[in-house]
Amino acid sequence: MPVTLVIGTQWGDEGKGKIVDYYAKNADYVVRFQGGNNAGHTINVDGDIYKLHLMPSGAIQGKTAVIGNGVVVDPEILLKEINELTSRGKKPQLLISDRANIIMPYHKLLDGAEEQLLGDKKIGTTKRGIGPCYSDKIARNGIRAIDLTDKTKLKARLDLILPIKQRILEAYNIKTTLNKNDILTTYLNYGEQLKAYIAQTHLLLNTALKENKHLLLEGAQGVMLDVDYGTYPYTTSSHVNSGGASIGTGIPPQHINRNIGILKAYTTRVGEGPLPTELFDANGEYLQQQGHEYGTTTSRPRRCGWLDLVVAKHTTTISGITEIALTKLDVLTGLETLKICTSYKLNDKNIDYFPANNHDVEHSKPVYKELPGWTELDTNTQHKDDLPKEALSYIKTIEDHLQIPIQLISIGPQRNQTILVN
Ligand code: GDP
Ligand code: IMO
Ligand code: MG
Repeated sequence: MPVTLVIGTQWGDEGKGKIVDYYAKNADYVVRFQGGNNAGHTINVDGDIYKLHLMPSGAIQGKTAVIGNGVVVDPEILLKEINELTSRGKKPQLLISDRANIIMPYHKLLDGAEEQLLGDKKIGTTKRGIGPCYSDKIARNGIRAIDLTDKTKLKARLDLILPIKQRILEAYNIKTTLNKNDILTTYLNYGEQLKAYIAQTHLLLNTALKENKHLLLEGAQGVMLDVDYGTYPYTTSSHVNSGGASIGTGIPPQHINRNIGILKAYTTRVGEGPLPTELFDANGEYLQQQGHEYGTTTSRPRRCGWLDLVVAKHTTTISGITEIALTKLDVLTGLETLKICTSYKLNDKNIDYFPANNHDVEHSKPVYKELPGWTELDTNTQHKDDLPKEALSYIKTIEDHLQIPIQLISIGPQRNQTILVN
């Protein structure tokens, strides 16, 4: 059975939680492969709202939830989510990769300190310690899930790492003293609580593949926040694109061939960095209010803009997207005229690619196609044909430009406000 991948094609918050939950009904395993609790995925089941940061969204459908090796795990947050779900009658069937890196207290301190030092050039991170944790992983200074279950190993790692971190904190003028015994006790305690879930998930997933089980891989963030393909350095620190799914799970790439890209019907972004179609007018405000565009993790207002198909072409191409799930189409209802960016004008030349250089991105002027809006949309219909003709024309413009079919249309936050095409 092919492995299904769901990833965001913009700057995150495209509605991954909702769509993963929707597709999870046919899955056996739902697997996170990158990011950490910088993510905030919302699931709305008949008004029952779940906001998950680390737990794979398939947990709500009662599927086996796997945290792959590519994820960075804050054990305190994960335990909180396990307890919250359990108290709501959704005790998760959880597996955590023994190789997943652990977010430590100094990662969170450093995330804040680096941002402060960057001043007005700050990235606008979620301050969850994501960047410093991935940096340590690549620098081979990380602590992994398996280490939390082995006192001798964890102590040896802390002996090595803490003096280095203490010096770095001092360089940032942070007065906190890292107390080895306290950290050792706290993290061994986390290990004790999590050890039943820690497993060689890469082996289990490959066995599941052989048994024809259905695997659904859940991306966090969006490809425009990918550390290589996003608006670097205004990105997160992981591989958000489809390639990250293989690296972050141990599932060989040839099995991952149903790649669903989630495209919000307009654009949003939280944090700093370029956003070519950003709106500073009443239309932007309308999108923010109608779409309730406030961060799930940090509650920050999301910047809003028109749909950008230069971005979508860039992200769907590098991730081999085979079908699109279009979300939040209902939010556009009531706008008289809609705009879709189809290319940029840079130095008097039309370009259809996303530049690597942020200076060029900032000087790229969106070239728009204008379309008529619609005044009403039945947010409970299950049929594409019931959508207003202007909405159908909006959908067709996207499909024609990207040459990728839209197979799912989301017209409200709830699980059942979803149209499956064909
Ligand atoms: P994620 O990070 O990609 O999972 O997205 P978030 O959960 O951070 O943000 C998406 C928000 O939009 C959540 O509040 C969802 O409940 C909501 N949402 C998802 N799909 C739709 C939709 O089609 N229409 C509307 N109005 N809201 C939606
Ligand atoms: P989901 O999965 C939107 C953004 C932050 C910041 C940048 C780097 O809910 O779509 P980080 O803390 O990762 O070092 O921050 O990335 N960011 C997100 N924006 N949705 C997310 O996740 C995000 N996760 C990180 O705002 O600009
Ligand atoms: Mg989110």
